[in-house]
Amino acid sequence: MLSFSTHNIIMLEFVNITKTFSSDILKKPFTAVDGLSFTIDAGKTIGFLGANGAGKTTSIKMAMDFIRPTSGEILYGKELGNKKIEAFSKMGYLPERPFFYPHLTGFEFCQYMGALSDISAKEVKKQIKKWAPEFKIDFALDRQIKTYSKGMLQRVGFLATLIHDPKLIILDEPLAGVDPVGRKELKDIIEELKLLGKTVFFSSHIVSDVEEICDNVLFIKNGKLLFDGSVDKIINENIKSEYRVRYYKDNELCKILVEDKEKNKSIESLIKDGADIISVEQERMSLEQIFYNVK
Ligand SMILES: Nc1ncnc2c1ncn2[C@@H]1O[C@H](COP(=O)(O)OP(=O)(O)OP(=O)(O)O)[C@@H](O)[C@H]1O
Ligand SMILES: [Mg+2]
Repeated sequence: MLSFSTHNIIMLEFVNITKTFSSDILKKPFTAVDGLSFTIDAGKTIGFLGANGAGKTTSIKMAMDFIRPTSGEILYGKELGNKKIEAFSKMGYLPERPFFYPHLTGFEFCQYMGALSDISAKEVKKQIKKWAPEFKIDFALDRQIKTYSKGMLQRVGFLATLIHDPKLIILDEPLAGVDPVGRKELKDIIEELKLLGKTVFFSSHIVSDVEEICDNVLFIKNGKLLFDGSVDKIINENIKSEYRVRYYKDNELCKILVEDKEKNKSIESLIKDGADIISVEQERMSLEQIFYNVK
């Protein structure tokens, strides 16, 4: 049984979701997702960020009902209908490690995925005709999947999630293993999906990829939500204004990092000590520094 939201605009909601894994009865259960709450509004593109092991795939698997939360509740949008089978027929999912039948051609794989969703052969062809050129995979659809490169597999896997024209599209690292030009092409497709009114929820490690195309980002660390909002807002709230002062003292080049409010005082005392100031530059924190707290 799925639960459905009573709010019109919500497409997916996590309400205080926790997931623990008990692999060994003698050991304390491991908490992979820890009291996670968020809402995804219909029509939005949401990026799901976090380091390796943060709990992204576990959360996505719970959203897809492959594994059940230990506690908490997941609510699905009214737009998805009111029955489980109906709701999942309106969702598209790209797993982190998709499985492909290697002897099928790309086209046959898409047909097979369409058949699983009860889509007519005619409709499947129509969707393939629309999407294959955008995924730049049309040239290879008559080849067996075992001949595909990693990036080609990612493209055909993503294409296959769109065959049944889903409303909610959940992608677990759709940009992984794709070269920079390919990343741009896939990001363009995600933007197009938004223009078509789809709701897209996708995970990634790369803040700048998410920043470019998402309305909002959710950032998790150790299964807990750290940030929820636009990248701009998160940067403005978390940016620390620091200055790097470079100077000569006793014929040696030195540099120190000072906070904004102490900048003038520090420079004055350096000069008093006989330092020759060379430059004072504002240190911009990178997106990675803000999100991942890397130094
Ligand atoms: N079935 C399981 N049994 C035990 N622990 C698990 C299981 N599945 C996931 N975990 C643990 O839960 C944590 C979160 O894993 P998850 O795959 O959700 O991370 P992730 O954010 O998707 O990471 P990545 O960026 O590497 O894909 C990890 O420590 C992982 O080892
Ligand atoms: Mg993962």
